[in-house]
Amino acid sequence: MNTENTYSRWFGRVMWAGIVATLVIALPWYSAWFYLFREQPVRVASAEEHFKYGSIGTEFESGFPYWIWLVLPRLFPEKLPGPGGYTSLGMVWEYGQEMPVGFTKQTVGFPRVGLNCAACHTSSYRKSESDGRPTLVTGGAGQSFDAQGYLRFLFACADDPRFTADILLPQIERVYPLSFMERQLYRYLLIPATRRELLKQKELYSWMDSRPDWGRGRVDPFNPVKFVILGIPEDGTLGNSDMMPLWALKDRPGKAYHWDGLNPVMREVVIGSAIADGAPPKVINRPDVQANLRRVQAFLQELPAPKYPFAVDEALKEQGRAIYAASCASCHGPKGQGTDQIIPISEVGTDAHRLEMWTSQAAQAYDQYTAGYSWELTSFRKELGYLAAPLKGLWLRAPYLHNGSVPTLKDLLEPVSQRPSSFFRGNDVYDPENVGFVSDQPQVHRNGGTLPLFRFDTTVPGNSNQGHVYGVDLPSDAKRALLEFLKSL
Ligand code: HEC
Ligand code: HEC
Repeated sequence: MNTENTYSRWFGRVMWAGIVATLVIALPWYSAWFYLFREQPVRVASAEEHFKYGSIGTEFESGFPYWIWLVLPRLFPEKLPGPGGYTSLGMVWEYGQEMPVGFTKQTVGFPRVGLNCAACHTSSYRKSESDGRPTLVTGGAGQSFDAQGYLRFLFACADDPRFTADILLPQIERVYPLSFMERQLYRYLLIPATRRELLKQKELYSWMDSRPDWGRGRVDPFNPVKFVILGIPEDGTLGNSDMMPLWALKDRPGKAYHWDGLNPVMREVVIGSAIADGAPPKVINRPDVQANLRRVQAFLQELPAPKYPFAVDEALKEQGRAIYAASCASCHGPKGQGTDQIIPISEVGTDAHRLEMWTSQAAQAYDQYTAGYSWELTSFRKELGYLAAPLKGLWLRAPYLHNGSVPTLKDLLEPVSQRPSSFFRGNDVYDPENVGFVSDQPQVHRNGGTLPLFRFDTTVPGNSNQGHVYGVDLPSDAKRALLEFLKSL
């Protein structure tokens, strides 16, 4: 017998056994990594596209499995306010885009849907109801997005006994043929885990049900952070507030951001917003996420406010300029003493709920939450009034005041008793007469369908339209001139 041959045969067998053993042990790990964690970063070409569709880090921990997200409106259309799938919730969906503005798609093992700043900070308007092409305004205050409706839609789907692999998988495979491995992944892991997670979130957000609805274009911005992320016990506060636009941020002398100026540092406001949207500190800590947030911030610093798109009466506008200088510029003009400053609540007199929602305890807890990271947040604070809000692009900031309780500029110049006690929010059709969105219609016709709008009742807690009575006593022709001038800001 040839010993060399025997030896090499033996060696060959050991080698094969080794390879097989390695594969048997390594393959499941490799598959697990491949199907659950493999990252395929998406490079978004321009900063504006990144703002609209790029990642701010929300896919890693709270990313929603894309294929499940895609089919939910098809399976449960009755849980949406009207036809048009997700757009019935007021999301802006640009023609030819795969995702609505503010929603990202990124593969982390499997394709996941994340949220970004543009979901709430992009608006769109139409010049009339027959105008089929809305104008999108990047950075605008998303006046028609119903963020609470979106959450409640997802919770209602998870609550439905039809949220099962047997029902979801065939629907997914109508649009995307899953591989054998993907099918197992969706059936045994992703569909049940998504359902469980949504039902858990539904519990965590149950405090919303004891408070008035946010309605389109508003959210309670910090109670979710307080109760869900920071673990602060339910305190009965109510913070419903209007979305804010994000243009001309670099021209803010007072350095106070948010309706109550709760943080003076732009970098912290950006990071804090990303945390609130579902990117926890250890994700924020990633260099790629840091770079993305810096990119978004740099883009917002330079973003200009949009110009008023209708005709302006120039002579009347010039008369209005003087009235503005006398009545408004002390708090809103470029050199006003109160400009971009916090005006005490006792002076401005608007609804106090939003202010009371943000407590010193919350400010401290938010700072502590990120302690130890090189980028930690240190500047959250408690203020005692509301920001004399910048009025750049004022025409598109409607409805007005921090709680969005006054539908048009014309109404804001009226005494409180004559401002509308109820109106409809969420329309995208502009009303140049009163300067704001059309607010007297309970529904809007869009994309060939009819969508119900949100009835805003100013007698409900948090919705008061009181206060800010500047200019209300002006004679009516002075008000008309001032209104004309306000269009040009
Ligand atoms: C779910 C909706 C939502 C998302 C998503 C969101 N925001 Fe906001 N944002 C708001 C609301 C509402 C306010 C006003 C809240 C308040 O102060 O009561 C606001 C306020 C702000 C302000 C203060 C503006 C000013 O004029 O003072 C900045 C800056 C900001 N957001 C940046 C961001 C950035 C950056 C992101 C993404 C990382 C983001 N937001 C994501 C809803 C949102
Ligand atoms: C004493 C300071 C002060 C004066 C004077 C003042 N404002 Fe204001 N303004 C504020 C404050 C504070 C807010 C935020 C109040 C809130 O949202 O609760 C505000 C908010 C607004 C808003 C709402 C902005 C938005 O995005 O919703 C408009 C519009 C406005 N002011 C217009 C005017 C006009 C027009 C005048 C003059 C007739 C005027 N203001 C005079 C302090 C002032």
